[in-house]
This record gives sequence, C-alpha cells and structure tokens, in this order.
Amino acid sequence: MIIKILKWTGIVILLLLAGLVTTAFLRQHVKYEAPYPAVKASTDSAVIAKGRHLVLGPAHCVDCHSTVKNVDSLLKLEQEPSLSGGVPFKLPFGTFYTRNLTPDSVTGIGRYTDGEIARVLRHSVKPNGEAVLPFMPFQNMSDDDLTAIVSYLRSTKPVRNAVPDHDYNFMGKMIKAFLIKPQGPTERIKEAIAPDTTAAYGRHLVMAVANCNECHTKRDGIGNFVGAPLAGGNKFEEKGVPTLITPNLTPDPETGRITNWTQEMFIKRFRMGKLIKYSHMPWESFGRMSDDELKAIYNYLKSLPPTKMPEDK
Ligand code: HEC
Ligand code: HEC
Repeated sequence: MIIKILKWTGIVILLLLAGLVTTAFLRQHVKYEAPYPAVKASTDSAVIAKGRHLVLGPAHCVDCHSTVKNVDSLLKLEQEPSLSGGVPFKLPFGTFYTRNLTPDSVTGIGRYTDGEIARVLRHSVKPNGEAVLPFMPFQNMSDDDLTAIVSYLRSTKPVRNAVPDHDYNFMGKMIKAFLIKPQGPTERIKEAIAPDTTAAYGRHLVMAVANCNECHTKRDGIGNFVGAPLAGGNKFEEKGVPTLITPNLTPDPETGRITNWTQEMFIKRFRMGKLIKYSHMPWESFGRMSDDELKAIYNYLKSLPPTKMPEDK
C-alpha cells in the first residue's frame, strides 16, 4: 500500500516538474505592452552635450556598454569611447552581453526608433516586446534626460558589432520565464528637472540616474530591497578577492561612512577614482560628475534619516 502511494506521489511530482519545465520553455519569449515615451532625438549641440555627460558620467552607460578600458586617456586625446557593446556579464544563471548602442543600422540602435530606445530605459521593454534584464534601473529619469541620452547616442560614430545572444543556463531559463518582468517608473515623471546643488536634485541623481540606491540599499537573495534606503549592507562576493560590503551612506553617527566627511572631502574622494581595484562601483564614470552634481548628492545623503547599517544575516 505504502509503496503504491509513494509510486503515485513520485509520478505526480514528475508530471508537475515536467509541466513546470514545459511552461518555462514556452515562456522564454513573452511579450509585454508599454507606451513609447514621447522622446525625440535633437541635433542641438547643447542637448547632445548634456546626453554625452550623462552617458559618460552619472548614468555610467559607458561602464557597461564599452569595452574601452581606459576611457579617460581616450577622452584626453579628444576621442570618444565607442559604445559598441559586447561586454560579458558572467552570472550564476548564464552569460549576458551588453548591446551595441552606436547608430549602426544592422547591429546597433540605428534599427530602433527614438521611442523604442527610450522605452527600454523607462519601461524595461525591448524593441521586440520582451522584458529587459534588470541591469538598468533608469525608469524615473526625466523626459529631458532621455531626450539628451538618445540624442547623444544618435550622434556617435556607427560601429558594426554583432553582439552574441545571451546564454541562459537552466536556472537562467527558469528565472527568465517566471521572474523577469518589466519595471516601470515608480513616481510621476517630470518633463525636466533643473540641475542645481539642492538635495532635491541630488535625490534625482542618486535614485534615478546614478543608481547609488541599487548597491547601497540592502536587498534579499532575489533582488528585492529589504533595508532602509542607502543604509548599505550588500555583500559583493567574488572568488579570489576579499568580500566587499557597500557602506552606509546615511548620516548615522556609528555606522555611516560619510557622517564625518565634509562636502570637500566627499568631492575629493570622487576625484580619486577607484581605490579598491575590484570594487563594483563605477568610480571612473562618477568621477566625471561636476562639483555641483556631487554637492547635490552630498546634500541629499546628508538629508536622509540617520539609520544603522543592516546586520549581516
Ligand atoms: C550595469 C550595466 C549596464 C548599464 C550601466 C547600462 N546598461 Fe544598457 N544594457 C545592459 C545589458 C546587460 C543589456 C541587455 C539587456 C537585455 O537584453 O535584456 C542592456 C541593453 C540596453 C539596451 C537595449 C538594446 C538592444 O539592442 O536590445 C539599450 C537601448 C541600453 N542598454 C541603453 C543603455 C543606456 C542609454 C544606458 C545609460 C543610461 C545603459 N544602457 C546603461 C547593461 C547596462
Ligand atoms: C555597482 C554598485 C555601486 C553603485 C552603483 C554605487 N556604489 Fe558606492 N560603493 C560600492 C561598493 C562595493 C563600495 C565599497 C568598495 C569601494 O570603496 O569602492 C562602495 C563605496 C562607496 C563609498 C565609500 C568610499 C570610501 O573610500 O570610503 C561611497 C562614499 C560611495 N560608495 C558612494 C556612492 C554614491 C554616492 C553612489 C552613486 C553616485 C554610489 N556609491 C554608487 C558599490 C556601488
């Protein structure tokens, strides 16, 4: 009797698993609907310059979408780093390649309309309707930011570079099927936000453009935020190097990293670049932020409620 029940339980479990796997494979190319932002590329040199600053600076697109190692030396020679993509991200669920953002009409953004490019960033839906992998939390950027970025990308030199397709392993396929969904904006989008040194502008940079929040707010194993905003505590573990934990950026007297830093010290730290070679923080791009942008960020971080860094669990 017991043997029979075990046998039938086994068969039911196997059937359920088979169903799950089949569903996962059928869900590899789910399409989503999302509006196209009303963004139109401009050829105005001031708009392009703003986009260039965002891409190479606070929004650090260059960090992921360019294979150029020493961007600053190139910029000193008055040359532009190519954003032709192909940078591999090797993760436990597969290898992913950043895409070609140059205006090439076969392998780059030359294939897409302005609205399609802007929709990738604001609604995380790709031109083919699939959800974008959660590498780019720029959903709350203003219309002005998106217009500037698309205008700059359109102005760069086209490079033909066919980037390989992503390579998902079994786990990756399960995650893609059931967990990857498009993320939209979490607040009302502003047409434009005037840049100044206030905490309000700093908040926009920290939360929507430079994404300090992504690494400096504690998350659980599948990426949900669980800690107080910017109180740190995320572990970056990598083979062969000591584990890094993102510091607490709130002005907590005991555990806050910058609690005793003056504004000048904060700016100076960003001008020094990466001090820990294997740090994931895009220090080079952030080092290209203006003094005013760094002041705004500092003022915002100082305005946060002082919060203890979450315990490691
Ligand atoms: C942390 C790394 C990272 C950063 C920073 C980043 N990207 Fe990406 N980007 C990726 C990855 C990975 C993909 C592939 C995502 C996918 O296929 O689901 C991608 C895909 C894209 C695509 C889709 C292109 C296509 O052909 O499907 C666009 C457009 C894009 N990124 C623009 C940008 C812009 C503009 C910025 C800066 C504002 C930026 N990215 C910053 C990693 C990054
Ligand atoms: C991709 C993840 C990531 C992002 C995005 C990120 N950080 Fe970090 N940050 C780290 C890690 C990891 C460390 C610890 C290693 C180091 O100091 O480089 C760190 C360290 C710091 C430190 C301490 C540096 C020191 O020398 O004590 C400050 C300050 C800081 N981050 C501020 C920021 C600000 C402000 C932003 C947004 C503009 C930001 N971070 C975005 C990962 C990140």
